[in-house]
Order: sequence, then structure tokens, then C-alpha cells
Amino acid sequence: MRTYRIVTFGCQMNRHDSEHIAGLLESQLGLVPAEDVTSADVVVFNTCAVREGAEDRLRGQVAALKPLKSSNPDLVIAVGGCVPQHEKDRLLDTLPHVDVLFGTHNIPDLPRLIEQAASARRPVSAIPDDTDLDVDQTPSIRESRWHAWLPIAVGCDNFCAYCVVPYTRGRERSRPLDEVVAEAERLVADGVLEITLLGQNVNSYGRDLYGSPRFADVLRAVARTGVRRLRFVTSHPKDLSQDTLLAMAEEPAVCEYLHLPAQSGSSRVLAAMNRGYDREQYLDAVRRAYEAVPGLALSGDIIVGFPGETDEDFEDTLDLVRRCRYDQLFTFLYSPRAGTRAARMPDEVPRSIAQRRFDRLVEVVQQMALEKNSELVGRTVEVLVEGPSKKDPRMLSGRTRTNKLVHAPVPPGIEAASLEGVFVEIRVTEAHAWHLVGEAAGYLRK
Ligand code: SAH
Ligand code: SF4
Ligand code: F3S
Repeated sequence: MRTYRIVTFGCQMNRHDSEHIAGLLESQLGLVPAEDVTSADVVVFNTCAVREGAEDRLRGQVAALKPLKSSNPDLVIAVGGCVPQHEKDRLLDTLPHVDVLFGTHNIPDLPRLIEQAASARRPVSAIPDDTDLDVDQTPSIRESRWHAWLPIAVGCDNFCAYCVVPYTRGRERSRPLDEVVAEAERLVADGVLEITLLGQNVNSYGRDLYGSPRFADVLRAVARTGVRRLRFVTSHPKDLSQDTLLAMAEEPAVCEYLHLPAQSGSSRVLAAMNRGYDREQYLDAVRRAYEAVPGLALSGDIIVGFPGETDEDFEDTLDLVRRCRYDQLFTFLYSPRAGTRAARMPDEVPRSIAQRRFDRLVEVVQQMALEKNSELVGRTVEVLVEGPSKKDPRMLSGRTRTNKLVHAPVPPGIEAASLEGVFVEIRVTEAHAWHLVGEAAGYLRK
């Protein structure tokens, strides 16, 4: 049996695309999953171009396969996703032992391209510019029995000055509401307990199809399919409507978790980033969210060292972060991306200064996350178990509705694996910055 392995970088959309890639390789080429990359006959890298670091890791991992390729000429290495979509055929100059290059919009062609490269024994590259194909028409094999990614829109029209995504994913295209709901119903019938709606900017969902955004409608409609937990990423602060916050508060299935990237706390930097809101508007959105949704957990993204960022701008960011009381914050050092507006901006922040700011921010975030988690000690939370903990198989790992990672000892006499995809009530005994520890509080429910 020929085998495959997929290595995925980047965002949830890429993880979902990899589920499609797996579905295609199994259904159309009859491949079966390999134990690891070194034993696979077909290796697919699904790549991310958002920061240079992700690209460097990709190059390293692909280069590491070169000796394998020499010893096994039948090995097929395919590289797809955002890096080839952005760099086109140029990638073959630096990675000449790659057999197939494909883009973000032609995943359904992959089986054919793999066959073609294998029979011709020379690299094939197919990276169309046209962004009309709907990847969701292809089969998919889910990573998880009980969790599903459900894209409601692909692409992005926002053109934040630093970001490649509008170039790699094309313009925003929403899927019709009834199609999304039908897919959610199928997933629920298949035993899915948790759905995450995906889009680069979910709040503008439907603008292209219906003239005005209808995210609150799609949220309510999917919440009513009987799914136990409903999540969504990513929200854009400029489009976060009161309707959406109401839907979050009113629909029991919608989790009290909002990922609302700020990117900066300085209005001047936000304007240069082309984010479409200023500091006050962001703080107002956060205030509205906390008010409307009881028990809300908030997360966000911050970029440190954007061109022209001064000490004062950075102090504004620290102040905004403290005010927002994030439960979780993803922090990034600015990484210039070719083709974006920011890459041509003057006043680059020296690396050492950016790094120092970054370290200060991480310290604040860690302290804040710990404070917030400490509020949960002594409380009982609902945890959806993901399986035994990776570090210690005697512990369970799972997530709360607010997306907090919880570990607890496996109750005596119970097989850890049997609890995968089961809801467990856990009493929190310890708080850490990035996780909670607790004990199963008596009863489990399906
Ligand atoms: N559509 C989402 C996020 C897409 S990328 C949104 O708008 O929020 C995920 C995160 O990567 C961004 O929120 C941003 O914080 C970060 N990011 C994007 N481009 C970057 C760059 N050039 N350098 C550093 N961080 C970047
Ligand atoms: Fe990138 Fe901005 Fe679009 Fe997010 S909203 S994907 S950061 S351009
Ligand atoms: Fe990366 Fe592409 Fe997602 S650039 S963040 S994998 S859309």
C-alpha cells in the first residue's frame, strides 16, 4: 500500500485544507496514512506565508527530505498552500527536489498532479491565479471525531498593510447560508460535538452575497443544529456587531470566547496598519463584548515592531493589553512580507528594540493570564476531553467553553482513551498562565 503524510503549517484554514488533502489522497489515489514523514511515499507540505519564521521552518523541513529523495526516487514531495501561492514557481529554485507545487485554490487537482509528476519524473507546478474554486466540494477526512472546522468564507478584502493573506487567499467569498447550515447538520448527525466556523474575517460574512454582513444569522442558525459547542475565528474589530454579541449571549451552544485581534494599542500605528479602527474603537468593542456576554474569555493578537512604532506607541499597546484583561494573547514580532505595503515603509524598528518590547509584552501577558485563570480555582468547569495528556498519559487534557486547556488525573478504573470526546465536569484546583489543573468532579456526561 502506498502511504502519505501531510505536514501542516499556519492557520485553522490550512488545517482544514489538509483534511481535504487527506480526503483526496485516500479516495482518489488509494493512499493510506504513514507513521511518519520518513516512511511515506507521498509527503505534502501545506504551507503558511504569514511570517518569515513559518517559511524558514518549511524550507528546513523540505530540505531535510533531500537524502530520502536520493535513496527513494519514487518518493513524491508536494508543496502547497500559501507559500507557493505567493512565490509561484520561484520556490523550485530554492527547493529543486520538490515534485509538485500547488496553490491555495487548486487543491482538487492535487491527485492528478502527483500522478503526473510520478510518471513524468520531473517537477510539475500548477498555481492558478483564479480564486473561484470552492475547496469544500472535495471530500475530507477530519482530524477529530468530535470536532470539525467549517469554513463560512475564504479570502480577505482588508489588506492590512503587513499581511500577505489577501494575496495568498484572494478576495473574500462567502458560502451561502443554507449550504453552511446543511453542512453543520451533516456534521452533527455524524457525531460532531464542537464546530469552529472559519473565516479570515467572519464578521463580514455574507457581505458579498447578501449586500450586508449576516454573521449573526449564520451563528444563530448553526447554533440551532444541535451542536453542543460552537466557536468562530477570526473576528475583526471594525465589523463586530451588537447582533453578533447578542447571538453569543443568547444561543447556548455559542461558546463565551472571542478572539479579537487588536494588533496594536496605538491609533497612529493602527492607521498605518490600515486596520480600520482606532484605539478607542477597539476598547469600546471590548467593553461591549464583556458587557453583552457573561463569562466571556477574550483573546487577541498583537504585532510588535511595526515600521515606525515608537516607545510611546508601544506603551499604548501595553496599556491597551492591560485594560483588555485578555485570557490569552498571541504576540508576534513584525515580519516584513514581500509585496505588502508595510514592506516598503521606512523607519524599520531595529530588531533588538523590537525584541525587548516583545519580551516586556510577554511578561505582562503571562501575569495577566495567570491572574485571570486564578479566578477559576475552586470552580467547576465543563471540559470536553481531547484525550490523554501528551506529557503524562495518567492525565486527561481538554478544553473549557472558554478555550482554556485543563489537565486532570484520569479517574480510577477508567480508560483514558474512552473519555476522548466526552464532557467531564472538572473542579479547578490550580491555575497556571497557559493551563488549569483540576479533578473530575463526580460525573461525566455525553
Ligand atoms: N485574519 C486574521 C488573522 C490572520 S494572520 C485577522 O485579521 O485577525 C494571524 C495573525 O498573524 C494576525 O492577526 C497578525 O497578528 C499576525 N501577522 C500577520 N501578518 C504578520 C506579519 N507580517 N508580521 C507579524 N505578524 C503578522
Ligand atoms: Fe490579514 Fe488583515 Fe485580512 Fe486578517 S484582516 S487576514 S490581518 S489582511
Ligand atoms: Fe498562513 Fe495562509 Fe493561513 S499565510 S495564516 S496559512 S491563510
